[in-house]
Amino acid sequence: MWYFSSPKLIVFGEDALEYLESVKASKVFIVTDKNIASFGLLEKVLKHLEVSGVEVKVFDEVEPEPPKETIFKGAELASQFKPDLIIGLGGGSCIDSAKAIRVLYERPDVQIEEISPLTNLGLGKKTKLICIPTTSGTGAEATWAVVITDKRKKVKLELASREVISDVAILDPELVKKLPKKLTVEPALDALAQAIEAYISQWKNDFSDALAVKAVQLIFKYLPRAYKKGSSDIEAREKMHIAATLSGLAFSNSQVTILHALAHSAGAIFRIPHGRAVALFTPYSLRFNFSKSWKLYAELAETIGLKAVSKKELAVKFLNEIEKLLKELKVATAVKDLRIEREEYLSKINELVERTMESTGLIANPREVTEDDVKKLFIYAYEGKNVDF
Ligand SMILES: NC(=O)c1ccc[n+]([C@@H]2O[C@H](COP(=O)([O-])OP(=O)(O)OC[C@H]3O[C@@H](n4cnc5c(N)ncnc54)[C@H](O)[C@@H]3O)[C@@H](O)[C@H]2O)c1
Ligand SMILES: [Fe+2]
Repeated sequence: MWYFSSPKLIVFGEDALEYLESVKASKVFIVTDKNIASFGLLEKVLKHLEVSGVEVKVFDEVEPEPPKETIFKGAELASQFKPDLIIGLGGGSCIDSAKAIRVLYERPDVQIEEISPLTNLGLGKKTKLICIPTTSGTGAEATWAVVITDKRKKVKLELASREVISDVAILDPELVKKLPKKLTVEPALDALAQAIEAYISQWKNDFSDALAVKAVQLIFKYLPRAYKKGSSDIEAREKMHIAATLSGLAFSNSQVTILHALAHSAGAIFRIPHGRAVALFTPYSLRFNFSKSWKLYAELAETIGLKAVSKKELAVKFLNEIEKLLKELKVATAVKDLRIEREEYLSKINELVERTMESTGLIANPREVTEDDVKKLFIYAYEGKNVDF
């Protein structure tokens, strides 16, 4: 027996924010960050909420890769304000913060670490949750994952509960129209990785496959356009926004792999933004899984129109195509290019390996993973060396 989870409603397309004009709520608590406010994106949301006549309180203190402290502060303010609707507005960081704040607000007796499929949270009694992404990447608006950073332990808590999934996700392309180049690319490569991981994970299923394939197709077609043309190509922006949500739905109903495990541990220890870390570890992880996943790579290659005489060749072409895309988008594909000193990196290698081995990303990885494999992957990724084991 298996389940498929998604928000109850996904509102998408031009003017999707208008949905807010008819929300049934009286007190709305918005979880966002200072950039979203300064770029005028919060303004757009407030304008629609004004029509619905609700009382609003804004918490705009979310930091990227949100630390536990942000969640505690937001939950405290929410408890004082007593909202019946929480809105997460921003990238994955704001959305995950909104999810976690909602849990602590509804269940003050629960510790963040207890957000797990094994805890019955009984959410929905005090508030509903609407998520509005302003990056096209993580898909967090549609997933039941919550990623919070424990700064003291330098670890990303990979939390999950089907109960934290948003009631409504709103995908309005207007909010991502002006994304700068780096923020167009890095979250999008997170979406690409998540879709591929969902497709090769041992927990893959027909639902997640369908969503993953569509996400991969859209990203290959529209990401180069969104990158080159920016705000002048609204179609590319809109398709990338949808691709991100599809990717979230795909992995959240399947699982990620060693790729996210490596990215989370390096991301937490060296403070690398999530999308950047994911993009970097993509070639190494996909090549590491080649012996188990090549048939699936070949299938994905076919869905994006690649051709070759044999399936194996097709699989190789798929990986080459990804590496070509990473080059075209000018992302770092070796840790040494991130200005992380070799000595410092090597001094943390055991910690990196330990964190990776504890990550939920290894649970359903297609190939069995040993500590030695992980260590080698981190070393190869530092130098930018092709995986040959
Ligand atoms: N819950 C999930 O399912 C899930 C999945 C993948 C990743 N994540 C998490 O999401 C986080 C990363 O999210 P992200 O990649 O969306 O980045 P982010 O939310 O960390 O945002 C990165 C930066 O972009 C800015 N920003 C956001 N939207 C903008 C816009 N429209 N214009 C200009 N600037 C904008 C933010 O203010 C921030 O400074 C990580 O913590 C990661 O672990 C969660
Ligand atoms: Fe991710």
